[in-house]
Amino acid sequence: MQLSRQLDNLALIGFMGTGKTSVGRLVAEIMRFEFLDTDELIQSRAGRTIAEIFEQDGESAFRALERQVVLELVNRKKNVISTGGGLPTNADNLAALKTNALVVCLWASPEKIWERVRYQSHRPLLNHPDPQQRIRELLAAREPHYKNADVLVNTDLRSAREVAQQIVLQFKIATRH
Ligand code: S3P
Repeated sequence: MQLSRQLDNLALIGFMGTGKTSVGRLVAEIMRFEFLDTDELIQSRAGRTIAEIFEQDGESAFRALERQVVLELVNRKKNVISTGGGLPTNADNLAALKTNALVVCLWASPEKIWERVRYQSHRPLLNHPDPQQRIRELLAAREPHYKNADVLVNTDLRSAREVAQQIVLQFKIATRH
């Protein structure tokens, strides 16, 4: 795949629990890029957790903070940017990432996602009486956005390291001149 774009960075998008943060850290280590996580940036700026922001200000306030962070990333180079699961549902966010990054989507089945997130409690959107159903619904609604990535990697049967190696390979292919 050849892209006539500036591919100075690598951005990871995908649903909660697809491994964006752990895979992103490995990719950054392999490529000697800096690792950034949009949720971490938002939390450190706000001095609050994502759950607190959702609870105190609502989801739309969180989405506005997300938007602001994405716009600030456009001048960066040699970064692996891990993003919150809902970030690419705003097409402008995805377009902004694509201006200077290869966008890779980590995909997983709803069953695998549930397996990975079931014992975690920090995600306000899964704080729901039927989280499995919530995962299926949200994933189905977001699928068209995730599929706008440049590259889609299924993580169901792969370890984080295998996914990271696959991504590094895809980045090399995309930036080969
Ligand atoms: C969200 C995913 C979370 C975080 C917030 C909202 C989403 O990030 O941004 O809780 O809308 O899917 P992770 O995908 O890293 O869990």
